[in-house]
Amino acid sequence: MSRISLSRFLIEQQRKNNAIDAELRLSIEVVARACKAINHAIRKGALAGVLGEAGTGNIQGEAQKKLDVIANEVLLDANEWGGHLAAIASEEMEHPHPIPTDYPKGGYLLLFDPLDGSSNIDVNISVGTIFSLLRCPDGVDGTDEKVFLQPGTQQVAAGYTVYGPQTMLVLTLGNGVHGFTLDAEIGSWILTHPNMTVPEETKEFAINMSNMRHWEAPVKRYIDELLAGKEGPRGKDYNMRWVASMVADVHRILTRGGIFTYPRDAREPNKPGKLRLMYEANPMSFIIEQAGGAATNGHQRILDLQPTALHERVAVFLGSKREVEVVTRYHQS
Ligand code: AHG
Ligand code: MN
Ligand code: MN
Ligand code: MN
Repeated sequence: MSRISLSRFLIEQQRKNNAIDAELRLSIEVVARACKAINHAIRKGALAGVLGEAGTGNIQGEAQKKLDVIANEVLLDANEWGGHLAAIASEEMEHPHPIPTDYPKGGYLLLFDPLDGSSNIDVNISVGTIFSLLRCPDGVDGTDEKVFLQPGTQQVAAGYTVYGPQTMLVLTLGNGVHGFTLDAEIGSWILTHPNMTVPEETKEFAINMSNMRHWEAPVKRYIDELLAGKEGPRGKDYNMRWVASMVADVHRILTRGGIFTYPRDAREPNKPGKLRLMYEANPMSFIIEQAGGAATNGHQRILDLQPTALHERVAVFLGSKREVEVVTRYHQS
């Protein structure tokens, strides 16, 4: 059987399923191509002098790694000239990046977390890129921040790349979730994981336990019950994993089930959680829901949230449906 490349997959989605138009297809192709260049830089590591701190900070209040900056630039350079985008927003940039005036503008808005899990880069642990695509309403200036503030349900595509032992791209166009593995010699993304689904039940959870003393009561109750194992109310032993790269943790959950949580905590009342709604929570929630899982902020479905700011943060509970239902129910009582 001939192998299905990402390009062929997208063309067939356009032709058969009408799931995307040519401009959206180009948007995804360009992001995927940029991710190959990011993959190349990551894999070179110390040989290319790309490890370590950039010496700059971002709008999130984080110290940027060299690769945070490189990945952001690679994605900007690749995406600004194709004529398919109205504007670009990134975790690493305070304001949306306008399309330079020498290029035509298109109908889509691209948002990304250029390098997710960047604290792991210098210790050679999986990192990723996360992206989300929205429509830009006709006649609206894409550089107006407000145009990006659309609920996650409005995403027309979302995906991530995980730079791990294999480099994979996982994509949803709103009709299931499909995984592609990079065949590096050929330079092609090959469909290797069609129709990925999250098992409904699980015995695995992901949370940064060091924050336990700051958690709210429903989260503490939920995790305590998992830790109680067979003897506790859940009646089974759970295992724990925490990579500290959301992409890697979510990829594990897509592959073998589990729940991923980054709850709000009591330290910073104005920051409900660490993860960013537009660059992390929304695209990952879209993917997880499309794979049959669920995603909430403890109270509401993440995809229904009306964003109020580009860099807004949100509490995240996502993964196997049953588990997300339990922890969400605990927030209600
Ligand atoms: P980023 O590297 O894009 O800033 O994201 C890091 C995020 C996410 O990938 C991960 O789940 C989480 O931060 C880890 O946080 P802790 O270091 O607090 O565990
Ligand atoms: Mn960051
Ligand atoms: Mn991130
Ligand atoms: Mn990042």
